Amino acid sequence: MVDVERLWRRLSDLAEVGKQESGGVTRLSFTDEERAAKDLVTSFMEDAGLLVREDATGNLFGRREGKDPDAPAVLVGSHVDSVVGGGNFDGPLGVLAGIEVAQTMEERGVETVRPVEVVAFTDEEGTRFSFGMIGSRALAGTLSEEELKPEDEAGISIADAMRDRGLHPGRIGEAARPQDSLAAYLELHIEQGRVLESEDLPVGVVTGIAAPVWRRLVFTGETGHAGTTPMKLRRDALAAAAEVAAVVEQEASAAGSSVGTVGQLGVEPGGINIIPGRVELSLDLRDIDEGTRDLVEDRILKRARALCERRGVGFETEVLQRMTPVSCSETVRGAVRAACEGLGLRTYDLASGAAHDGMQLVGLCPVGMIFIRSKDGVSHNPEEWSSKEDCTGGTNVLYHATLDLASRQR
Ligand code: GLV
Ligand code: MN
Ligand code: MN
Repeated sequence: MVDVERLWRRLSDLAEVGKQESGGVTRLSFTDEERAAKDLVTSFMEDAGLLVREDATGNLFGRREGKDPDAPAVLVGSHVDSVVGGGNFDGPLGVLAGIEVAQTMEERGVETVRPVEVVAFTDEEGTRFSFGMIGSRALAGTLSEEELKPEDEAGISIADAMRDRGLHPGRIGEAARPQDSLAAYLELHIEQGRVLESEDLPVGVVTGIAAPVWRRLVFTGETGHAGTTPMKLRRDALAAAAEVAAVVEQEASAAGSSVGTVGQLGVEPGGINIIPGRVELSLDLRDIDEGTRDLVEDRILKRARALCERRGVGFETEVLQRMTPVSCSETVRGAVRAACEGLGLRTYDLASGAAHDGMQLVGLCPVGMIFIRSKDGVSHNPEEWSSKEDCTGGTNVLYHATLDLASRQR
């Protein structure tokens, strides 16, 4: 069994990095906070006896050799970046559990055939640039230098943020892993939903991952005097945007399985006595079924265009990122199921509503995930919580599943 106290202590130590008054953390990619988190994780990896390196996008790896150093490695891990005011488990649990697995193998003198690598991916969340999974896309070889143009609120592009950290955008190709270099990717993560809690189960086997499309919607009306402009003569950009936000809620709800969120709103000029002339909304739309999601997206955009036309408000939209839902590998799911059974846990299948780095890796290697129960399903929130017992249970499942996958012959 893994060392519960060590895992819990490391989770608490990492929660100090980028800690907010709210109790949560803010660690955006390529910032001092994210760097400090990776430095701390480096020290944990070294303590675990792992060989540490960073690739061209800042992905951090700790490697434990197998009997056959040329065999494809089993990769386990997650991310240490966070959303603004995020919780302490989303990402860190998977990275620290991965280190715990490798360290336990080391302490027990366990020899695996395949190497085991622990990864802390760069920018899973996509918070800073509204474009995420930078590290896992690069690992999969699907990220081009041209895609490093999105800017943060201060107008700094991904490429410039990388340069500020001493990374070379022109060399991201070097982070790509060759086909057949990885035997599997397995990530332990909190569920971030209520399914396991409602089933009274500590651990679940992930069947697939729903995928988001992220869009920016821009509404252009006419700025005017709030006191002198009669209602029927207005072209109020915010009134149009508000109607569209309601349409997002209606269409996602009507589809049943889809979820749609407007999480950002920018109003210009932004005066209490000024009719808004320009508004930007963000749209996050997801489904485990890509066809359903895209149909909902079409409906929203069609209704948005029609209502803007009626209001005399300009409407433009661009895609920020579009991901594809994935199914988890039967091989990896089988290893997770066997690990659960070995530990006397009921195996329970569920899909992920949140996006994860594994989505980017399905073209590279078999991908799987283990979920543990989240208190009240709360996540992307300082109140995010999973118990010490559930973190330990999930890490033990990760240990046995990783051992199984890493013990297989090539
Ligand atoms: C990341 O957590 C996401 O699902 O957006
Ligand atoms: Mn996460
Ligand atoms: Mn997250």
